[in-house]
Amino acid sequence: MVRGSKNAVTKHMVAAMLGSGPSKIHNAPEVGDVDITAAMLESVGFEVRRERDEITVGGAGAIQPSVPQAFTGLNRIPILMLGPLLHRTGEAFVPLVGGDAIGRRPVDFHVAALKALGAEVSVGADGITARASRLRGTRIDLPYPSVGATEAVLLTAVLADGKTVLRNAATEPEVVELALFLQRMGANIEFSPDRRIVIEGVRALRGASTRLAGDRIEAFSYLVAGLITRGEVRVHGCPQDRLVTAITTLAKMGARFEITDEWMTATATDGLRPAAVHTDTHPGFMTDWHQPLLVLFTQADGMSVLHETVFENRLVYVPALQQMGGEIEVFAACLGGPACRFHDTDAVHSAVVRGGSKLRGADVTLPDVRAGFSGVLAAAVADQPSVLRGIAHIERGYHRPFEQFTSLGLSLRRN
Ligand code: UD1
Repeated sequence: MVRGSKNAVTKHMVAAMLGSGPSKIHNAPEVGDVDITAAMLESVGFEVRRERDEITVGGAGAIQPSVPQAFTGLNRIPILMLGPLLHRTGEAFVPLVGGDAIGRRPVDFHVAALKALGAEVSVGADGITARASRLRGTRIDLPYPSVGATEAVLLTAVLADGKTVLRNAATEPEVVELALFLQRMGANIEFSPDRRIVIEGVRALRGASTRLAGDRIEAFSYLVAGLITRGEVRVHGCPQDRLVTAITTLAKMGARFEITDEWMTATATDGLRPAAVHTDTHPGFMTDWHQPLLVLFTQADGMSVLHETVFENRLVYVPALQQMGGEIEVFAACLGGPACRFHDTDAVHSAVVRGGSKLRGADVTLPDVRAGFSGVLAAAVADQPSVLRGIAHIERGYHRPFEQFTSLGLSLRRN
């Protein structure tokens, strides 16, 4: 059973900062990123209550504009709080953002967008300071359809004066989910063809309530867990339309699916064919799906190719898989799919994987949340036990992962 997505829940919590009354988020996952975001909201004066799968954000009396330095580098959320803090207090300070070390992950689009909306923004060694007595709608063209920058614009433009036209916006399901929540709060948001979002600022937003849709990254990861161990995992709680490209990719490799309105299963009792896959923005093959896929490639019947086109440095976990016996070569070239924007750089963003490898247990360090899950997948098919370090990454992004792994039959111990 997968819960609401990690990449949506925290953004909804930030959106709740904009409401005049409390907001409720149902089907929230229990992930470390929620704990961090709740603590950040509390640090500036909001009340966050959590009961079962429900998060309530509200009770804001006096808001203070600075997110403490103690939150430096913990996740990607502080940068999204700038707009809401500016609306509430006219000024804001947020510490430097963190998240996974999967590329430079700059925030230049965020800063440029806030400036275009009328904020004075300065980026210092410790964090970002912004000031604005009023924010004004404007026209913003993103150089790349960034999920975070699109969300930052939504969270800021909804209460700005006048109209904002955002071009080259991200249209990932989690972005649309955030826009729908803001619409419920009273925001005026229109999705136009060709990645254009038009936002007419309103004077105030109210609290709202929503139920998050299932996490498509978790769902995919568990489907692959079933395929790689030649078993069958039934994944509940993630709508099929969030997985359409993922399902087709696995089906082309030979996986058989059974899909209902409540759950889906994938099996591959006769083995899997290799594939050439490139990651892309939605509705392409999602970048966060590639790590489980790469481990699956090590067990397919032949040579597969992966081309990562969203983050330039997302293959940093490959050495851990190589240490476990994965026969993987990485390249600073665009292999598989069309040339991407990392074409003329030295970014190592393509991999060729030999299938049929016998993976062995090893002592490895996992560098980020998605790579963390892949390390577990590799350990599950390895012929001896493995020691995986850095599992806090998994807990930051997956709902009760150890319970789920155990229910899948994996034997693991947390030290
Ligand atoms: C979010 C997701 C992450 C997912 C990614 C793409 C969260 C918490 N994380 O990350 O799981 O893999 O979307 O679907 O929701 N960029 C810039 N300048 C900026 C912002 C982004 O150059 O100011 C670049 C990034 O370096 C990257 C690309 O744009 O190469 C896409 O990043 P973006 O879509 O912003 O990812 P996140 O929102 O950080």
